[in-house]
Amino acid sequence: MKTTTICFANNKGGSGKSTTCCNVGYELSQMGYKVLMIDGDMQMNLSLSFFSEDEVLESAQNGNNVYTAVTNSDDIANYITATKYENLDAVLSSSLMSNIEFDLFSKWQREFILKNCLKNIKDSGKYDFILMDAPPTLGGWVMNMLCASDYLIIPVEASPWGLFGLANMFEFFATVKQINTDISLLGVAITKVDSRKNYFKQTIETLQNTDGVHLFENYIRTDSSIEWAQDASLPVAVFKPSARSAKEYKALTEEVVSLVNR
Ligand SMILES: Nc1ncnc2c1ncn2[C@@H]1O[C@H](COP(=O)(O)OP(=O)(O)OP(=O)(O)O)[C@@H](O)[C@H]1O
Ligand SMILES: [Mg+2]
Repeated sequence: MKTTTICFANNKGGSGKSTTCCNVGYELSQMGYKVLMIDGDMQMNLSLSFFSEDEVLESAQNGNNVYTAVTNSDDIANYITATKYENLDAVLSSSLMSNIEFDLFSKWQREFILKNCLKNIKDSGKYDFILMDAPPTLGGWVMNMLCASDYLIIPVEASPWGLFGLANMFEFFATVKQINTDISLLGVAITKVDSRKNYFKQTIETLQNTDGVHLFENYIRTDSSIEWAQDASLPVAVFKPSARSAKEYKALTEEVVSLVNR
């Protein structure tokens, strides 16, 4: 079966990229799909969502991470770490990712380095989904992540500044699309909705009226279980199966699957 690659990106920091990537990845694996998650951010938040700080720092130091794969233009299969969950593997990040723009700069066909690192694993069909967590930047590295992707999901925080800057993301995506003509914007996912406040309705309304943008019906409300789960390096559905956000992430994942053309 074809491997579907989805990148979670938004230049706005703290918009829920890592949280959404982690929990959608976990839910996909629970649905029986084989999933590889790639942490593309020097903050290593996706890595820390599944592994302890000690494990993440060890991978950061011993070279078993995305930075080594990309800077050596090596097959990503050599850098995979199994999580404790069935069907769910990960490629961890490293703080050296802070150098990645500089490292990519002198490379030939520099937009396609990650795509080439993923080629063998995609061709093998070992995974149904590859999910990638992007850093809050728009540069050569995120361009690499999007050039290696079939779909983009943009998590947006339901706050006044959550929408500010989204135009830059759309503009960047338009540039990406000229290089990777196969990529589609799967949708915008609203996160961190505080249903005690009305502001989120404005976010939803604005996005519903944005041409060419699919807004996921299932949004994610603020839930302190998310933070406790991250503190314990667990997906929220493992930390507290009854948590509201666990149900919301399951519903969002089902919506993702229904939209993906497999
Ligand atoms: N539904 C939620 N309820 C409560 N807190 C949340 C929720 N989603 C995310 N958070 C918190 O918001 C913060 C930002 O989330 P996250 O790290 O997923 O965003 P991000 O877009 O990956 O950030 P960055 O741009 O720094 O990579 C985190 O501290 C996380 O714990
Ligand atoms: Mg993040």
